[in-house]
Amino acid sequence: MGRGEAMHAMLKRVKGAYALAILFEDDPSSIIAARNGPPLAIGHGEMFLASDVIALAPFTNEVTYLLDGDWAVIGKGGAAIFDVDGYPVERPRQTSMAAAYLANRGQHRHFMEKEIYEQPEAIGHVPAHYVSLIENRADAVPIFDFASIPTLAISACGTAYLAGLIGKYWFERYARLPVEIDVASEFRYREIPLSPQSAALFISQSGETADTLASLRYCKKLGLTIGAIVNAAESSIGREADAVFPILAGPEIGVASTKAFTCQLAVLAALAISAARTRGTITENEVQALVRSLAETPRIMSQVLDSIQPKVELLARELSKYHDVLYLGRGTSFPLAMEGALKLKEISYIHAEGYAAGELKHGPIALIDKNMPVIVIAPFDRFFNKTVSNMEEVAARGGRVILVTDEKGATASKLDTTHTIVLPAVDEIIAPMIFSLPLQLLAYHTAVFLGTDVDQPRNLAKSVTIE
Ligand code: G6P
Repeated sequence: MGRGEAMHAMLKRVKGAYALAILFEDDPSSIIAARNGPPLAIGHGEMFLASDVIALAPFTNEVTYLLDGDWAVIGKGGAAIFDVDGYPVERPRQTSMAAAYLANRGQHRHFMEKEIYEQPEAIGHVPAHYVSLIENRADAVPIFDFASIPTLAISACGTAYLAGLIGKYWFERYARLPVEIDVASEFRYREIPLSPQSAALFISQSGETADTLASLRYCKKLGLTIGAIVNAAESSIGREADAVFPILAGPEIGVASTKAFTCQLAVLAALAISAARTRGTITENEVQALVRSLAETPRIMSQVLDSIQPKVELLARELSKYHDVLYLGRGTSFPLAMEGALKLKEISYIHAEGYAAGELKHGPIALIDKNMPVIVIAPFDRFFNKTVSNMEEVAARGGRVILVTDEKGATASKLDTTHTIVLPAVDEIIAPMIFSLPLQLLAYHTAVFLGTDVDQPRNLAKSVTIE
């Protein structure tokens, strides 16, 4: 039996998700590749094979993606691709955007640090790219019509899910559009009754997360219009969507997502403003004010990154001595509290939880003592006074409060906190982007003090392509 026949016979019998690269002891210049589920890309030139085009970036930007069920014989001169039934097929050769950026750490100790400091530049691409969509120009995405949809479904995993949760607050508040959201591993199995008139957004940095892709396919089957908010437009999620909304963050290498998160937020904010405008739920003046705030984000981010590092480093040194940390917030600061906790646990391995401040009384208050610092995220918004009263409850029980607020909040709060990080006062819609920065840096410096592997924390993967 020849190699091709053997491959065909074998693939007919294997079940489940796989991405295979088969090498031959007696023929080192050939590789047989096969994919079902997880991604595989062939790089042209000297011929390469990788699960992510970023890995190919230093070598080639000419790539061919294998589709589910495909297998390929790759040799020095090129690749022959076959489908699941063993018939030769043509798959398009594409120019990968990933090659535009060679991934290196530059002056930074870790990719995560570099990516935190890249945020002002990365997020600056978003308003410029989305302004035509917000203004409903003819070249905007006509297929995604916010005016006619009764509801919006959102699904994602990890940090991307928390970005979606913040997006829900915006779509509901500004565009009066009800949002059904869940983590993709639940969403895909819940059998949610969704109307085909609705639309669904899937958020994924990599565009390859298996559960998110499965949730997308569930919605597609029901006939919903599918939008993908992705960093890699060429990814599976990008390719299977009806409309792609790129986050334009550039490659993100650190496992803990930072710039992808804030760029996802910026895209969600732009889409929510666009939806609000199309649905006539806010005035033209309000639209313009929100767009102006969005355009201000890069400048304010730079200002914050230039000023908070010494304070955050000091705080991180202290935080590294604790075993548990609680994060609290209300409104969009609630998902942000969960994101702050997620960042800390991912890279420092300190146990951390993010809670809605109003839920404090329903459980976590029992844990409060001097051994569990409480990080309170409280911009001076319409929830501020309520969050301050939660802070007082913590302080009254001997808890250590670390307040992350803005100038107005710092003046208004009479509480003697253990530490206060003061940020500029900004419009509510960009507060989650700005307030992300101290949380990311706090997790980063704590992990550096503890000496963990910041870019590749134990047991975690950048892209989870199997269930
Ligand atoms: C993994 C990564 C996270 C990421 C999540 C979703 O858990 O470690 O940083 O948020 O997957 O990934 P995605 O590529 O779909 O955004």
